[in-house]
Amino acid sequence: MSVLVRAGVWPLRAARAVIPCFWRGKYFSSGKEPAENNLVTPMLRHLIYKIKSTGPITVAEYMKEVLTNPAKVWVGEPEDKARSISAAGVNREAFSLSQLLGIWFISEWIATGKTAAFQLVELGPGRGTLSGDILRVFSQLGSVLKNCDISVHLVEVSQKLSEIQALTLTEEKVPLERDAGAPVYMKGVTKSGIPISWYRDLQDIPKGFSFYLAHEFFDVLPVHKFQKTPHGWREVLIDIDPHVSDKLRFVLAPCATPAEAFIQCDETRDHVEVCPDAGVIIQELSERIAVTGGAALIADYGHDGTKTDTFRGFCGHKLHDVLIAPGTADLTADVDFSYLRRMAQGKVASLGPVKQQTFLKNMGIDVRLKVLLDKSDEPSLRQQLLQGYDMLMNPKEMGERFNFFALLPHQRLHGRNHQINALQSEPSPSPVAGFSELVWR
Ligand SMILES: C[S@@+](CC[C@H](N)C(=O)[O-])C[C@H]1O[C@@H](n2cnc3c(N)ncnc32)[C@H](O)[C@@H]1O
Repeated sequence: MSVLVRAGVWPLRAARAVIPCFWRGKYFSSGKEPAENNLVTPMLRHLIYKIKSTGPITVAEYMKEVLTNPAKVWVGEPEDKARSISAAGVNREAFSLSQLLGIWFISEWIATGKTAAFQLVELGPGRGTLSGDILRVFSQLGSVLKNCDISVHLVEVSQKLSEIQALTLTEEKVPLERDAGAPVYMKGVTKSGIPISWYRDLQDIPKGFSFYLAHEFFDVLPVHKFQKTPHGWREVLIDIDPHVSDKLRFVLAPCATPAEAFIQCDETRDHVEVCPDAGVIIQELSERIAVTGGAALIADYGHDGTKTDTFRGFCGHKLHDVLIAPGTADLTADVDFSYLRRMAQGKVASLGPVKQQTFLKNMGIDVRLKVLLDKSDEPSLRQQLLQGYDMLMNPKEMGERFNFFALLPHQRLHGRNHQINALQSEPSPSPVAGFSELVWR
């Protein structure tokens, strides 16, 4: 079969009009994997039932089912993900990226004129540890923010995770709002006394000057995958393996599917992943930032429109075949930042993506490490600090694989008044921390 496909002959199977998929150079449904990998999870049973009833599903549908189906949702690994910065910061209290993120927001708040109030919005807060650390920085810098009215808004689709977030951030069980249709589904007060609310959708958050954070959020949003063939783009679908029961495999759609509309006309890659949900969220963020001000900081694994097949599974901190034992592993696809930039449609300015290594250097991570090393005499603590630094900065670890990207109002980068007379002087806007060196004015 592979010879036929590579030769450009695309035989359709009579029973199901799909084509076994070879773009990764192997069948995922070879049936040669060890038996212990072939677990029949409740999610697998659910997917098999679904495919039997309605036919092969898109990769986007597969990701959505596995990651956010309320009945069977995957809630991540005990301490976030192996690949998350939070886990990477060996000594979270002493040396964590979240502290630098807190400083980024304060620096932007100062650069944009210290508004009387702002909303801190986190998209997909996981266990709530990142927001918790950022709020701790806000408390530590209480004298800077003392007259600012802050509120926290979390966008979370998983009921289970929102309960964990509530425990992390408020230290108590927050009850569900009585009105099931209300945009806010939980409300409470954080440990430091800040009002906090939970929503299922970004659109439900009140409009107002806001700082948005999306850390390892966009990479879990569902992607459609496409393979270029001699007959044009064909969507990669997921089907039941006809040779092995209870097993899934990739196939190609026999003809064009609607999601193909998301592929750029001048696309040069032969395999692409597109994430329409990310486009919708970026459009909403851009509209909000353009109208009511603030900024969005997006941190994720990703590329600038160059990579092809990045759909991966992680389980127990290790790579995991995405089609094996669905519901037991975390699924991700790298973020295409060029797509995010395009989706902002010029309503706001974008910065990045810059590599984590560059972003953290600009945020002063080296100075922070030196201060911490100078303060610690204990060899084990010093070693932990150096290990944490290496994990965050080493190009082979997260230094080059993780990226930062920001959306800001145009006037933040170009000054307030575009029409200003050349003789009149208006102070030039301060550089954006992380994307240039952090400067406190
Ligand atoms: C990988 S975790 C990120 C954790 C956290 N941001 C961190 O870095 O520690 C992804 C989070 O996004 C949430 N999520 C996934 N899809 C979502 C959606 N469409 N809307 C809101 N939250 C979503 C998940 O439930 C989870 O909380």
